[in-house]
Amino acid sequence: MVFVRPAALLALGGLSGLGWAAPVEVRDDTVSTEIFDKLSLFEQYAAAAYCKSNSNSTGTKVTCDEQNCGSVEAADTNTLTEFENSSETDATGFVTTDTTNKLIVIAFRGSKSIDNWTANLDFQMEDVTFCSGCRVHSGFLESWNEAQDGVIKAVQAAQAEYPDFKVIITGHSLGGAMATIGAAALRTIDIPVDLYTYGAPKSGNDEWATFLSGTDKGESFRVVHKDDVVPTLPPSVPFLMPYAHVQPEYYITTGNKVDVTPQDIQVISDGDNGGMDIAAHLWYFNKISACDGLFDLKVKRMVEDLS
Ligand SMILES: *[C@@H]1O[C@H](CO)[C@@H](O)[C@H](O)[C@H]1NC(C)=O
Ligand SMILES: *[C@@H]1O[C@H](CO)[C@@H](O)[C@H](O)[C@H]1NC(C)=O
Ligand SMILES: *[C@@H]1O[C@H](CO)[C@@H](O)[C@H](O)[C@H]1NC(C)=O
Repeated sequence: MVFVRPAALLALGGLSGLGWAAPVEVRDDTVSTEIFDKLSLFEQYAAAAYCKSNSNSTGTKVTCDEQNCGSVEAADTNTLTEFENSSETDATGFVTTDTTNKLIVIAFRGSKSIDNWTANLDFQMEDVTFCSGCRVHSGFLESWNEAQDGVIKAVQAAQAEYPDFKVIITGHSLGGAMATIGAAALRTIDIPVDLYTYGAPKSGNDEWATFLSGTDKGESFRVVHKDDVVPTLPPSVPFLMPYAHVQPEYYITTGNKVDVTPQDIQVISDGDNGGMDIAAHLWYFNKISACDGLFDLKVKRMVEDLS
């Protein structure tokens, strides 16, 4: 295990911001309504992963106690697996069919162990066989490894019944990191899957980011809210911690607690352009983690640890 002091990491992160990171390039200053609708729907699925009712009762409809997943509730859904905290890796989420939109959706919650992860600031990478030269954050990988058997089985069962449905994987925060690893794992076993992440940290190295950005087995949409701190982590430090992001980035330019429109989303390259705003991490189209009231506190603690 390699533990590095937070202050040292921030200093290194700052250095990468000063010179090593590529400049931000705006490819498009808006998104189509078609893409906007998808970003919005899969944000709601990611929000639903925070609700207890979607992790304790396989074979039920996806619902949100906090009324932040109306489009998901309007769809005809039925979960094939719901799982929570099955061991110390704290992997939580569900796999559901959505016959209204002809989808099979995998969603992961931002982990409860977010405070553990940052308290340890363990940014160690591990080799993975999904792609050549790829290295992935070992903690995120452990979480995915724990969930993968149940998730893959559920997806295959759903595909047997609905072979023409599109497979989607989504998640917020650490759930986004798990979704990213899940996307690579599924694409590698010839299950095409579209990836949607919201406020996700970086999950692996350059080779990893390139593999996920440019696959013919599904599209990748990485959504970042302006000033969100989590997507800047782990810092990208050449050689030592060569963390990189999946490209492009769908960058929400508006503030907190404001409705988002297609004109508020830029398509940009790179994206170590977060900030230190906790509320920005929690506001993606709506209060994404509303079903887990404690999640705010954990992110607050994380930012305190880092400052
Ligand atoms: C699942 O959690 C919800 C929300 O806390 C609760 O209302 C429901 O009774 C639980 N269901 C089961 C099967 O435990
Ligand atoms: C969550 O995981 C921890 C550590 O493995 C365990 O002690 C706890 O009982 C688990 N909680 C639930 C609800 O499964
Ligand atoms: C969090 O850290 C504590 C203390 O280091 C450990 O006992 C616990 O298992 C960890 N929980 C998770 C979910 O990683």
